[in-house]
Amino acid sequence: MPSPQLYDTIGSTYTVTRRTEPRIAAQIWAALGDARTVLNVGAGTGSYEPPGRDVTAVEPSAVMRAQRPASAAPCVAAAAESLPFEDQSFDAAMAFATIHHWQDPIAGLLEMRRVARRVVVFTHDSSDTGWRRRFWLTRDYLPEIADLLVGRPSLTEQASAIGARMEPVLIPWDCADGFFEAYWRRPGAYLDDHVRRGISVWARVGPDAEQRAVRSLRDDLASGRWAERNRELVDLEAAELGLRLLIA
Ligand SMILES: C[S@@+](CC[C@H](N)C(=O)[O-])C[C@H]1O[C@@H](n2cnc3c(N)ncnc32)[C@H](O)[C@@H]1O
Repeated sequence: MPSPQLYDTIGSTYTVTRRTEPRIAAQIWAALGDARTVLNVGAGTGSYEPPGRDVTAVEPSAVMRAQRPASAAPCVAAAAESLPFEDQSFDAAMAFATIHHWQDPIAGLLEMRRVARRVVVFTHDSSDTGWRRRFWLTRDYLPEIADLLVGRPSLTEQASAIGARMEPVLIPWDCADGFFEAYWRRPGAYLDDHVRRGISVWARVGPDAEQRAVRSLRDDLASGRWAERNRELVDLEAAELGLRLLIA
């Protein structure tokens, strides 16, 4: 299912667990530099939109647009691959946790590059070493995630498309935004339906894989197997799980 339709289906409870994580926001806002006008592509409900700047949002899902607070930036119904703006009409364009949903991520990145003088994209390294094997959830419970990555451009391909440099984004152990990797030190959270409903991966792998993964994690938490396998995480304040800012 293409993602605007996906979010019209799964997006109605997004704000239950998804919100701005201030430490990650600070890193993004620093990367925006002195940009005064900012375009937020795949803006969803408005998380990470920087205060004190002139923000315009783009979001294709009506369900997501409807959940934007009344005070949020004006939002245009459009997709990243075809941005309805003149060349170089913004100081900066940003995108947070959305590019993996775009039908053509490279086309979307080139559009951001076209309409803005600076581009800041929060994305992830989806290679084996960078991500799938580094995170216990995908490594030990959800191998099906590999199928979601087939045909997607690598992190290096994304960066080279717009001549971006990469900056690692660490995930604090108590991350306020409930994205897929957010609960790396709070494994019991993945047993909670509300948490999983705020993460599109679960809808995309389907109910069989979801139920099997949850059952298996629940058993391992009860038996102490998870704790044994992941002993090194207990004292970590922040984790490097392959999340990256692309800055061009
Ligand atoms: C995980 S949400 C992230 C929303 C927001 N950036 C945030 O951080 O909360 C992904 C968003 O990407 C949007 N999206 C899907 N396909 C898109 C496309 N082709 N262009 C722009 N946005 C798209 C979805 O509708 C959804 O709102």
